[in-house]
Amino acid sequence: MTRAANYPKRLIEVDLPIKKISEHARREKSIRHGHISTLHIWWARRPLAACRAVICGALWLDPADPLCPDSFKTEAKKQMAQFWNTVDTTARNVGNPLELRQALLDFIADFSNWDNSTDERYLNTARALTQSAHEALGGEPGTRPLVVDPFAGGGSIPLEALRVGADAYASDLNPVAVLLNKVVLEYIPKYGPELADEVRKWGQWVKEEAEKELAEFYPKDPDGATPIAYLWARTIRCEGPGCGAEVPLIRSLWLAKKGSRSVALKLIPNPAEKRIDFEILHDPKVADVWEGTVKRGSATCPCCGYTTSVQNVRNQLSNRGGGTNESRLYCKVVKNKYEETEYRLPTQQDFLIVQKSQNRIKELEQDRFFLPTCPLPPDGALGFRIQKYGFIKWEDIFSYRQKLLILSYIAVIKKISIKGKKQEQEKIVKTILGLNLSKNITFSSSLCIWRNVRTCVAQTFGRPTLSMIWDYGEMNPFFGSAGDFSESLSYMVELIEYISKSTEIQGKSQIQDAANTSLPDDITDFYCTDPPYYDAIPYAHLSKYFFAIFKELEIFEDTQDAIQFLDQNECIADEQLGKDRLFFERKMTDCLLEGRRISKPNGIGLIVFAHKSTKGWETQLQAMINADWVITASWPIDTERPGRLRAQDSAALASSIHLVCRPRENPNGQVREEIGEWSDILAELPLRIKEWMPRLKQENVVGADAIFACPAQR
Ligand SMILES: C[S@@+](CC[C@H](N)C(=O)[O-])C[C@H]1O[C@@H](n2cnc3c(N)ncnc32)[C@H](O)[C@@H]1O
Ligand SMILES: [Zn+2]
Repeated sequence: MTRAANYPKRLIEVDLPIKKISEHARREKSIRHGHISTLHIWWARRPLAACRAVICGALWLDPADPLCPDSFKTEAKKQMAQFWNTVDTTARNVGNPLELRQALLDFIADFSNWDNSTDERYLNTARALTQSAHEALGGEPGTRPLVVDPFAGGGSIPLEALRVGADAYASDLNPVAVLLNKVVLEYIPKYGPELADEVRKWGQWVKEEAEKELAEFYPKDPDGATPIAYLWARTIRCEGPGCGAEVPLIRSLWLAKKGSRSVALKLIPNPAEKRIDFEILHDPKVADVWEGTVKRGSATCPCCGYTTSVQNVRNQLSNRGGGTNESRLYCKVVKNKYEETEYRLPTQQDFLIVQKSQNRIKELEQDRFFLPTCPLPPDGALGFRIQKYGFIKWEDIFSYRQKLLILSYIAVIKKISIKGKKQEQEKIVKTILGLNLSKNITFSSSLCIWRNVRTCVAQTFGRPTLSMIWDYGEMNPFFGSAGDFSESLSYMVELIEYISKSTEIQGKSQIQDAANTSLPDDITDFYCTDPPYYDAIPYAHLSKYFFAIFKELEIFEDTQDAIQFLDQNECIADEQLGKDRLFFERKMTDCLLEGRRISKPNGIGLIVFAHKSTKGWETQLQAMINADWVITASWPIDTERPGRLRAQDSAALASSIHLVCRPRENPNGQVREEIGEWSDILAELPLRIKEWMPRLKQENVVGADAIFACPAQR
């Protein structure tokens, strides 16, 4: 079996407290205040807990390794003693290197806890250890180790690299991801809490201005009740002989199923008028609530009972671009003056307002806006099925009032003008508020369902694709629920404050193909990345949802070129785009070869991977072998919340495997000739599993995950 050259081992190459890290990673999923996920949606973000732990484990040395320089052992002992002193814990005996190793691993486990992530005592200790390991490995005193993540996505890895005292370079092919990283790695560390104040102040101004302009489109009811949401159904014409009624497509007639209170919709067939009328039922008997009108894509008419076929439903909607703007408003959810939620039938006023927003949007020539040249991905592209219903362009998924909302916010954000000393922050404030808006509009498309159990509007990307939604909820964007500008603004401000506490070091974020970075040879100490998982998430397609906003705000300069570059170079398996398994393997190999080129010969790599299919795994591992990396350890970190269904088709896999690797190079950078054989690996596997099984069982690692877990050599 191939071995890495003879370098002092890093902690992660001998052990990692995966059980505790997994616990902290799972807990982090329910944390919102200050969490990077509140910056913007990015799919399959790595939990910060896991990133922090593996970065420490990879940058720090194993004090029990015979090649570990004494300087690190001495500093590690000193740092641990100081740490125990400051946190008021009894000092442990670390006279023997194995005890010191264990102390460092225990520190990593505790540091991965969210609650300790901005604690100065942890931060100072971690940074001192990072510095000491760096210098012990030959780093110039006063410089920091460089961590490079070329598939940086939502930015968890580079943020954690900065936190533990490394320099961070984050690149991604996707302009939205690059923007997210710029905010986290460049803008916030540069301006700190001052930026939080500016964002708070201007955000509030933007909200007030937008509300002034838009309030008339979300009026209160005459009795003062405030709308929370409007419920709409796409419609078709019944194709039953002689019928022709307008059929609203509704999955379930239950409007609310909350605790003991329930509300449902009653359909009242009105064949004479060729329409369906509605009535609201309060606490109805289950037997009195009919089934919805649409089932598996076919629609049954309440007037004549005829079922229009799936194909014909599609044809009818296709002729109307998905039918968003001809949908039927069937219910309005309001908060009355007693703070109770009520379900009301729409009034004449509601219909007039919709008409008014349509007229307004036409005046604004919205066609110039939603990137008409940016079509939806081809029908069948990884999970996208809505094209079959006539959604061709991105704008087809928004109603007139939703477009008006977006356009009005953009117009106000553009008016921000910061004068004087802080003028250089103007573009940054606009960018951050643009992100706040773009994050909110995931709650304002016609692909948001009304959740009748939680009684709220869900966001568009419940799954990482666009799914057909027959009946949708349109939220009132000024009501204060998720998707409201000021609600998310407060999270944004907290995030800026949290990151300001995490680091003052500035990183770098660049738009780049991971297969072709502009970095020099042998520059990085740690190539740490979480590349795309084969065919799991179509990032390029999904992110186009947001492009229009950034283009309008002049944050992206040349959107058309960026889109082309992205579509051509994204590393993904998607047959519909002509990117088959071979494409993925070749592209991933090129990216990892580039990773090895920029890595120091004595550097280390870490690649996170998760996939439900062996095809995905084989392709990824083959690419690593082709790119001359040697795997020296691998660790599963379980990131799912307990109790969550491990959906077979979900990209959110239970465990992600952290593959630790080294360049297969001699100290002079030349690739070593010997290549690992699968047969060698297979022969060694049972021995290693036997050796590690008791420990893995203790850590709750069982089944297939256990096969991927354990250091390759000790
Ligand atoms: C699994 S995600 C990274 C998620 C990230 N670690 C986080 O915590 O949010 C993979 C990323 O790879 C990016 N990507 C895909 N192909 C790329 C390429 N050729 N070069 C650079 N980035 C690419 C995608 O845009 C996506 O952001
Ligand atoms: Zn009919």
